[in-house]
Amino acid sequence: MSPAPHLPHMFLRFLPPLRPPPRAPSAPRGMAEMPGPSPIASMYQLLCRGGLSRMHEMQVQGRARYGPLWKAAFGPIETVHVAQAELIQQVLRQEGTFPVRSQLSSWKEYREWRGRACGLLTAEGAEWLRLRRLLGRLLLHPYRASSFSGAVGSVVAELVLALQREGDGNPEHLVRDLSSHLYRFGLEASSAVLFASRLGCLEPEVPSAPSVFIGCVHSMFRTTLLTMALPRLLLRMRHSPWDTFCRAWDGLFEFAQQHIDHRVAAVVAQPHSVHGVCVTDLLLQEGMSMESIYGNVTELLLAGVDTISSTLTWSLYELARNPQVQAALTGNNTNTSTGTGTGTVPLLRAVVKETLRLYPVIPANARVIPDRDIRVGEFLVPRKTLITLCHYAASRDPRVFPAPDQFHPERWFCVGRRIAELQVYQALAQILLRFEVRPEPGGGPILPMTRTLLVPSAPVNLQFLPR
Ligand code: HEM
Repeated sequence: MSPAPHLPHMFLRFLPPLRPPPRAPSAPRGMAEMPGPSPIASMYQLLCRGGLSRMHEMQVQGRARYGPLWKAAFGPIETVHVAQAELIQQVLRQEGTFPVRSQLSSWKEYREWRGRACGLLTAEGAEWLRLRRLLGRLLLHPYRASSFSGAVGSVVAELVLALQREGDGNPEHLVRDLSSHLYRFGLEASSAVLFASRLGCLEPEVPSAPSVFIGCVHSMFRTTLLTMALPRLLLRMRHSPWDTFCRAWDGLFEFAQQHIDHRVAAVVAQPHSVHGVCVTDLLLQEGMSMESIYGNVTELLLAGVDTISSTLTWSLYELARNPQVQAALTGNNTNTSTGTGTGTVPLLRAVVKETLRLYPVIPANARVIPDRDIRVGEFLVPRKTLITLCHYAASRDPRVFPAPDQFHPERWFCVGRRIAELQVYQALAQILLRFEVRPEPGGGPILPMTRTLLVPSAPVNLQFLPR
């Protein structure tokens, strides 16, 4: 419950914390002193009473019972749970150049077993860094996002039509199982960007291949935690979750590989007549091997489907329950006084942030620090320990987010943010439309300096050439 419900929540963040943050004593405490349930109790909670599907709630309960750090058994190994933002930050600040995600990765095991190449989600060490640099260079540039915007825009238009068709078919305009539509949207949009394929996922009759793919994604995610938590002996028995898990991955690779091969054949046959550019083309141009393209593009496809569908589903769900926020978004849309529509951008961004706070698509992930013991809060966590980062609990921490279970996009605003973004976007857009801006001929670099705020340390002189 909020400590002072009569105060606007924006001001609550300036109140002193509910609980003092953990103070690190001079000598860290060892693992023997860390609280947590016994291994048998942990396994019972996980595998009985639907524990795997309630792991996010177990984070909140674990923090309430043991504090922000506790240990528990996860299958064959012990893991330390970290459920507070500052402590998660402490872990991430102490990891090396490469993230080590888990020594329990059934995703990686599948690739070794089938001789498949890893993509960015499963690669490790120097290979991860190489892929990360390459994909970062190819995909993170704003210019790249704009080169995909036409393809995504046409899929968005199909989504709107599909929702309209679905609503019109019901006297109350009810769209049932919104996630299933958004799942198909995620798959259609990701396929357009990754291998320039259109699948027909948003047509009235959905072809069977995308439906099979979606079934494989569900099945793979459903069995992932089981393949990590179950004892190895049980795992390799026939008809075990491992079997289902591998067949699901086979289906995902097969689907992606078919579309990649199709695209590569089209590019090779007529390099100048293929339309647009897609991620497969970019990886080919970089000289990446076909096996590595299959590995990377399959993982990108997988990474882009659930995340997008879940974020959109929860956003629309919360907007439906908070009509005042929806009105603020759409009301501003009709205001054409700025001619840019940028007035709604800060609120739209805040809506997505607030949705991801309440429903983080990845409710927990893991890290291992392989080469040294690290201090987290008041404990010393031994090297090679699996550290579970509990994002769901951390983002509903009432010390940081008053009224943590309520949807308040405004909590992400600073009072002046709306005006600031309006000014910054409009000024930049108008200036860049009229001028080409260049550095002062012969001028040197200008460094920042701190004068309470960060400011330039010398006058900034630029050329404004009329366009
Ligand atoms: C709302 C949408 C999304 C959210 C909330 C989200 C969230 C995340 C988070 C939290 C991680 C970090 C995982 C970790 O370090 O353990 C991650 C990594 C990743 N995501 Fe996303 N994601 C989204 C959309 C996408 C899309 C559309 C793609 C692909 C086109 C994608 C591809 C990836 C990849 C490849 C990684 C691994 C990055 C690395 O190892 O450096 N994500 N995502």
